[in-house]
Amino acid sequence: MRISRSFPVDKFVIRGGARLKGKVVISGSKNAGLALMPATILAGGLSVLENVPHLRDIATMGKLLEVMGIGVEMKGHTLSIDTSNVNKFEAPYEHVKKMRASIYVLGPLIARYGYAKVSLPGGCAWGPRPVNLHIEGIRKLGANIEIREGYIIARAKKLHGANIAFDVSSVGATGNIMMAAVLARGTTIIENAAIEPEIIALAGFLTKMGAYIKGIGTTRLEIEGIDSLHPANDVLIPDRIEAGTFLTAAAITHGTITLLNANPLHLSAVIAKLESAGAEFTIAENSITIRCPKNIMPVDVMTAVYPGFPTDMQAQWMALMTIAKGSAVITDSIYLDRFKHVAELTRLGANIELLKNSAVVKGVKKLTGAKVMSTDLRASASLVLAGLVAEGTTEVLRVYHLDRGYESLEKNLKSLGADIKRVAGKEY
Ligand code: UD1
Repeated sequence: MRISRSFPVDKFVIRGGARLKGKVVISGSKNAGLALMPATILAGGLSVLENVPHLRDIATMGKLLEVMGIGVEMKGHTLSIDTSNVNKFEAPYEHVKKMRASIYVLGPLIARYGYAKVSLPGGCAWGPRPVNLHIEGIRKLGANIEIREGYIIARAKKLHGANIAFDVSSVGATGNIMMAAVLARGTTIIENAAIEPEIIALAGFLTKMGAYIKGIGTTRLEIEGIDSLHPANDVLIPDRIEAGTFLTAAAITHGTITLLNANPLHLSAVIAKLESAGAEFTIAENSITIRCPKNIMPVDVMTAVYPGFPTDMQAQWMALMTIAKGSAVITDSIYLDRFKHVAELTRLGANIELLKNSAVVKGVKKLTGAKVMSTDLRASASLVLAGLVAEGTTEVLRVYHLDRGYESLEKNLKSLGADIKRVAGKEY
């Protein structure tokens, strides 16, 4: 008997060579949205978030909230979240395995309801991503935590304040502990807190909900817990990684584009590196224009916590360096194994040697189109960028990874002059 199983999976078909030109509006931040959405659990009632992007990850978080009895409605880019009737305090494996940020419900659930059962996320596409800091932090706030059958089960009558010093700066753990501490009894100090813009956005939203947080934007947060919070409305900050990806797309195609609704202050490390590579910028409060020369200079990068060069831009930078006039060393010091894109970029003709957590990229005269496989969100973005400049046709398979973090990527690139289309495909 012959067994045939095929799955519909979209792909991008790109014909390289077009210089990008024009304007693109940057979406609201995925990672800010993924933090603010669970924060609404901390108060009963209706919260409204605006500038919310249409992304798979946002939809996944929405579905997870719905599992808990929360009303979630998206109209245009406005997301209404009604937490009046939360009736399940659980994040099942089926949801958490799709998106690690689901762990963000742990802090709000334990703080407001004294109980949370959240699946452990497990590894991700490029390697281990522990959540020990989340667990240890919640424990320090007085929760009893057991790990059973793949789940974190947390219980507490009432959380209390604590001094928490992270040995690693973690965006997710800072967000989770902050969300738990705002309803704890007493004062919580978080040392070595993350200062990523998405964490500042979360702290701003919590403050709108009535929380007392001092030191926002610094690595030392002081949170005075209170008995209850109220719902609030907010507008998501621009997505700095989407913006950085478009700037790199302009650079790799020697183009000239303007980003609208972008925040240049959040992109200073990326802009500085692009300037070193030869790009010129005109920067206004909410817009960035980049003009890129024919020759891209090689520039080393090492990823670091904010305001350093973001790990979420490492793969895209590597794509750019594949056509630079010389060699560049790209080191990821946040995620040491985040290099799934190397093998796929090599299929397009790139010359890359991987040494532990560094890639030595020797610029080649040209890339040539091929079929390549998306493995994770930012790796996939790097393949699209490479496809924009590769000679001939590049097919980027499994673009559902891109749909997690880029709204209408192919439409935006097309409007900037790229020859790119989405094709419904099948995989066997
Ligand atoms: C967030 C972002 C992700 C980005 C990452 C780093 C969201 C939804 N995701 O992920 O896009 O790539 O920040 O900027 O906002 N670590 C531990 N123990 C923990 C938690 C983290 O050792 O409990 C380590 C990680 O392995 C990593 C480092 O801390 O080496 C930073 O990770 P973290 O900032 O927590 O990343 P996420 O919040 O998961």
